[in-house]
Amino acid sequence: CGIVGVVGRGPASALLLDALKRLEYRGYDSAGIATLEDGSLTRRRAVGKLANLKSRLDSEPLAGRIGIGHTRWATHGRPDETNAHPHMVDGVAIVHNGIIENHRELRNDLKAAGAHFATETDSEVVAHLVSRERKNGYEPVAAVRKVLPRLSGTFALAFLFEGHDNLLIGARKGSPLAVGYGCGEMFLGSDAMALAPLTDIVAYLEDGDLAVVTREQIEFIDVNGARLRRTSAKVAGAAVIVHKGEHRHFMAKEIHEQPKVVGQTLAQYIARDGTIRLPAGVDVDFGTVDRVSIVACGTSFYAGLIAKYWFERYARLPVEIDIASEFRYRDVPFGAGNLAIFVSQSGETADTLASLEFAKTHGQHVLSVVNVQTSTMARSSDIVMPTLAGPEIGVASTKAFTCQLAILLCIAIAAGRSRGVLSTEDERSLVRALAQIPDYMAHALELEPKVHELAREIARARDALFIGRGTNYPLALEGALKLKEVTYIHAEGYAAGELKHGPIALIDKGLPVIVIAPYDATFEKTMSNMQEVIARGGRIILLTDERGAALAASSGCSVLALPDIPPAVAPLALAVPLQLLAYHSAAIMGTDVDQPRNLAKSVTVE
Ligand code: G6P
Repeated sequence: CGIVGVVGRGPASALLLDALKRLEYRGYDSAGIATLEDGSLTRRRAVGKLANLKSRLDSEPLAGRIGIGHTRWATHGRPDETNAHPHMVDGVAIVHNGIIENHRELRNDLKAAGAHFATETDSEVVAHLVSRERKNGYEPVAAVRKVLPRLSGTFALAFLFEGHDNLLIGARKGSPLAVGYGCGEMFLGSDAMALAPLTDIVAYLEDGDLAVVTREQIEFIDVNGARLRRTSAKVAGAAVIVHKGEHRHFMAKEIHEQPKVVGQTLAQYIARDGTIRLPAGVDVDFGTVDRVSIVACGTSFYAGLIAKYWFERYARLPVEIDIASEFRYRDVPFGAGNLAIFVSQSGETADTLASLEFAKTHGQHVLSVVNVQTSTMARSSDIVMPTLAGPEIGVASTKAFTCQLAILLCIAIAAGRSRGVLSTEDERSLVRALAQIPDYMAHALELEPKVHELAREIARARDALFIGRGTNYPLALEGALKLKEVTYIHAEGYAAGELKHGPIALIDKGLPVIVIAPYDATFEKTMSNMQEVIARGGRIILLTDERGAALAASSGCSVLALPDIPPAVAPLALAVPLQLLAYHSAAIMGTDVDQPRNLAKSVTVE
């Protein structure tokens, strides 16, 4: 979820709506705004996208110079209007990002004391608790201070109080929250991007902080009321507005941008002499590292899984890789001083962020590969290697994924060189291949008309399987994820060699199987797996290269063939037709491609 607050000079509701637009990446199940009109709390809420809230506000405007807003990704309680934030209880309005884990117990206590709950959310307990302390005679700040220690779980909260036209309170534990400084107006928001149209002077709350925000100043205190010093800084570049250009959807635009943005990302790391140059701040001694941990979620996790193959092959470095929601709760036996890499487009994913803190407390050197440079993860890492994908709006990640791959491959090559695994000649030949990636991706985009044809068939399917070996296995996982995210078709990715251990039972003539097999060391093995599918009546789409296509010519399957590409860099080009296949299937089916149901661009709760 995303939260925002404005204590301003003019009407607050338009500013709140604008800021929420920039927070929609955190969820779009429902949204709402509350303001103080002549000292009284009023609110408008709407289920679904922000556009619905906007039409509501157009017909029923909200006056007031102070307000809070929220865009929701439902955790507790259906995404309907009743459960939408802000929650209001007797003169207190709140918006919340996070999860109050002891909400059941608190709700029972409050009910026993006579409270009536309007919603099924965990968040509503906070409004009840604060309003109770107000009734006990506590001033707003004191009431919030009394309540916060009773909350377990995570939160970023903003409070608005009836009768207090010059006061917003923010509080943070676990979920990010920032404040923004204006002139005679001040702001609160989940991130600097939300605040960008309002101000570029931003300070971040730390865990346990409260921010007391008025038009004139922002004061930071801890839960005991002791003053804290938090420094503000100017943030650059967060205000960029992005358009779809000639494309129908952001996803299509972002797929097509890949040759350019991957080229830009690589240019940061390729030196004139044809070797990899990591930026000055990247002070990892790969010679002394004996294990790398890679942690991420979703598509970013699959980028990490591909990188595992690269680190092992080019740097002979053992890699521990896990999804963040598992990693953070495992008893990982970290070796002191090892390297932990966190991969994230948004830099705000709650599980990845918590894993990053977990690794830090265990003495790991923390490197993050992030796309949003003002993000919490970027600010919390020892080393940041930014992907230069530019703003990614489509919820299904495309260009951020290939930029992540580009950086991870550069790190693996640099590690291989400093560990003495790669000779200068090996390195130069890998870098020559890297430099060709934008061209390979451009060739991959030329397959679009053919992919569109095949997408008609996929759009009719109920299920789909993606298989591959080596780095094509994580690509199969990513191909399946992309398809299910945007088409809602059930899709699974499998290691081709694992097909015979279960999924082969699914094969029938209605099941498309996408086989990812460029001509590499495991090509023949994958071809055997493909024959096993054909023998059982399965329908194959083969994604390969020219050599592979020539060898598979007699198999009777549909073939998507790229030019021959060095295996090290092939995943970056092979990703493109898989993205296009998901995109065109979804476009044919007419789903909400850029904001598919139930998803969020960045999931900021665990
Ligand atoms: C969400 C998005 C995915 C994304 C994942 C990780 O689930 O819908 O597209 O891959 O989060 O996000 P991150 O920002 O950490 O890469």
